[in-house]
Amino acid sequence: MGRQMWKPGNMLYPLPAVLVSVADRKGNSNLFTVAWTGTVCSDPPMVSISVRPERYSYLMIEETGEFVVNLTTESLAYATDYCGVRSGRDIDKWREMKLTPVKGEYVQAPMVAESPVNLECRVTQKIELGTHHMFLARVVAVHVDERYLEENGRFCLSDAKPLVYSHGRYFGIGEELGTFGYSVRSKPAVRKVPAMRQKAKHGKAAEEGQKAKRRKPSKRIPDKRQSSKVE
Ligand SMILES: Cc1cc2nc3c(=O)[nH]c(=O)nc-3n(C[C@H](O)[C@H](O)[C@H](O)COP(=O)(O)O)c2cc1C
Repeated sequence: MGRQMWKPGNMLYPLPAVLVSVADRKGNSNLFTVAWTGTVCSDPPMVSISVRPERYSYLMIEETGEFVVNLTTESLAYATDYCGVRSGRDIDKWREMKLTPVKGEYVQAPMVAESPVNLECRVTQKIELGTHHMFLARVVAVHVDERYLEENGRFCLSDAKPLVYSHGRYFGIGEELGTFGYSVRSKPAVRKVPAMRQKAKHGKAAEEGQKAKRRKPSKRIPDKRQSSKVE
């Protein structure tokens, strides 16, 4: 079989499909789905989202210069799709999808309580690229769901079953194949799962854990435990 050359287009997949929550100065809020997103700098921690100006949410980001990136999971797949095909101009997506807005620490936009990770972001720059305008933003706070913390304080995102978007389809991430640097390490690292979490994984608590939960306000954690140093 040969290979075909296609006209230029977007084929950089898979990508995370995130829920971006926004608010205006009057306190109205909304959320929408974004797949054109990425990590763009480690220090200072920065992300980008590319948004079409016709989105209702675009106006709110322009007004406040703030948004929250909420990572999505398999159990949030339906809501992620819905928030990407319906507009906040017409409906209250928080209510329709039974998502819980929780107040962040630094920005006006509420965070999605059902998401395992929320990144509070402040826009530093907007680049008008074409169909999409890219907002570059500084991550000013990271909130993580304690359910996915291991005994050693490491956060295990894969336990939350992250959602992936690939060429018009949604997927889970599948089996772990290795950890960062495993190709050059002599001994494979053994992962310690706390007894409490193991029980939750196999018991009724696991199912309940997937249901929407109102999250307690985030505790402050020393910087060194927060982010990885490798990327
Ligand atoms: C999987 C998926 C990914 C999307 N990615 C983007 C994106 O990166 N940028 C964008 O502007 N719209 C994107 N959209 C479309 C918006 O989420 C959609 O138009 C939404 O209804 C806008 O909501 P709003 O009008 O309430 O702001 C995506 C939709 C889906 C389903």
